[in-house]
Amino acid sequence: MNRRQNPERLLEAANQFIGQNRDTVNRRYRPRFHAVAPIGWINDPNGFFFDGQHYHLFYQHYPYEAKWNDMHWGHWRSGDLAVWEDLPVAMAPDKPYDEAGCFSGTALPDGRGGAHLLYTGVSEHGGLQQQCYAHFDGKEIRKSDRNPVIPFDLLPPGYVRKDFRDPKLFRTADGYRAVMAAKHSTGPQLVCFSSPDLENWRYEGVFCRTEGVMPECPDVFTVGGQMGVLYSKVDRNPRTAKRPRPVLYALGQLNPAGTAFSVGLWQQLDYGREFYAAQTCVGKDGKSVVVGWMASWETEYPTALLGHGWSGMMSLPRVLDASDGHITQAPAPGLLSLRGERRALDTVLDGGRAVLENAGARHAEIHLRAEVAQADSVTLNVMEDRDERVSLTWQGDRLTLDRSALPYCQLLKLPPKITMPLKAREGKIDMTVYVDNCCVEIFAGGEVLSALAFPGAETYGVSVAAAGKAGVALECWQLAEN
Ligand code: FRU
Repeated sequence: MNRRQNPERLLEAANQFIGQNRDTVNRRYRPRFHAVAPIGWINDPNGFFFDGQHYHLFYQHYPYEAKWNDMHWGHWRSGDLAVWEDLPVAMAPDKPYDEAGCFSGTALPDGRGGAHLLYTGVSEHGGLQQQCYAHFDGKEIRKSDRNPVIPFDLLPPGYVRKDFRDPKLFRTADGYRAVMAAKHSTGPQLVCFSSPDLENWRYEGVFCRTEGVMPECPDVFTVGGQMGVLYSKVDRNPRTAKRPRPVLYALGQLNPAGTAFSVGLWQQLDYGREFYAAQTCVGKDGKSVVVGWMASWETEYPTALLGHGWSGMMSLPRVLDASDGHITQAPAPGLLSLRGERRALDTVLDGGRAVLENAGARHAEIHLRAEVAQADSVTLNVMEDRDERVSLTWQGDRLTLDRSALPYCQLLKLPPKITMPLKAREGKIDMTVYVDNCCVEIFAGGEVLSALAFPGAETYGVSVAAAGKAGVALECWQLAEN
């Protein structure tokens, strides 16, 4: 069937395809408590908002294959950011102005359980990007008859037609602002537009400048009583760059008109390589929550190569806070409700290794506290079975994740070793690690490292080792089925 010949039936066709084929997906590496599509490809989180009762999270989606193609918006809902319910695909590229894809965008709650959405409509075979308004009434999305509401021609000269995307929508006292990623002859930047009514927009100028060749997926949010901006950076040479495609954030000042941002220092939001296109929403308790695509354009997903029928997932949602000009992140508290069977280990190691018997930590939360004053290093091993493991080694003021022993990491040329800062405080270190079948996320000292990890073995063991003397307290909870 040539789907493009029937644009008005694209949404129906996508949902029908999913209904008929979702059971064919191979479940070997499927995560349980990370949001994942029923079938096909996903990338960026989109339109993340809290409706007063539920979180809605849309996402860039191509259901028909495990690779990127004409972008639809998939849709999940969650009451606690831990268990995600699949809802029907919500948007398809079915209009002339978005026929080459409904690209990323954001949501602003409308106060009636729905949300205003602003997203990028792509046309001219990918050559033209413009911003479109749609309304989500709690069930369905309706695109405005006046789209594109921010046509490319509203920009002054010097901008690139195919690089004007990913609007962040927010409210100000006098109306609305939209901040987009854009490429200008003078360099990459975020640009700002204003509107009294979401359909009539005016160019306001440069919101802030960015690094790299092109920013993607900008966000403007509050954290710890301050304003922050984040974006995903496209490096000049992502394949050779030391840290390709990081999500960067800066705390700073929004001008009184809400049209420009004075940026402090750009800092990295996640130390891993597989965390991209992050987006925030204002959560239940008023705090900002961030979620990212747990993959990257530089990573081939083994499940796509293996013919498992799916590719990509979201990171765990993290609650944001700020202190000393720096963002700290904690896993969404709702994850605690997934805790099932608990196994624990409390011992003093003197150069040795202790195994957590029958850990069964394939979908698990693992908490390690260690007294390290007399230790040179302490290593927590997860996904362990004979020669395979992901090791997390604290030494000095850093934690190093090493996944080189996993078969698909070698095959896919994923960077084998990644580090994050971790300083001992009063002679102690503390970390929480989530393992979810094909990924490891480490929370330590308010920082996060997200990593894909595809083991060959079926057993997911846990052990801890030390060089020198270390008291270790290990707890491991199996996390319940989503
Ligand atoms: C980021 C991104 C966005 C774009 C979307 C397309 O990963 O490239 O800039 O809107 O993906 O799927």
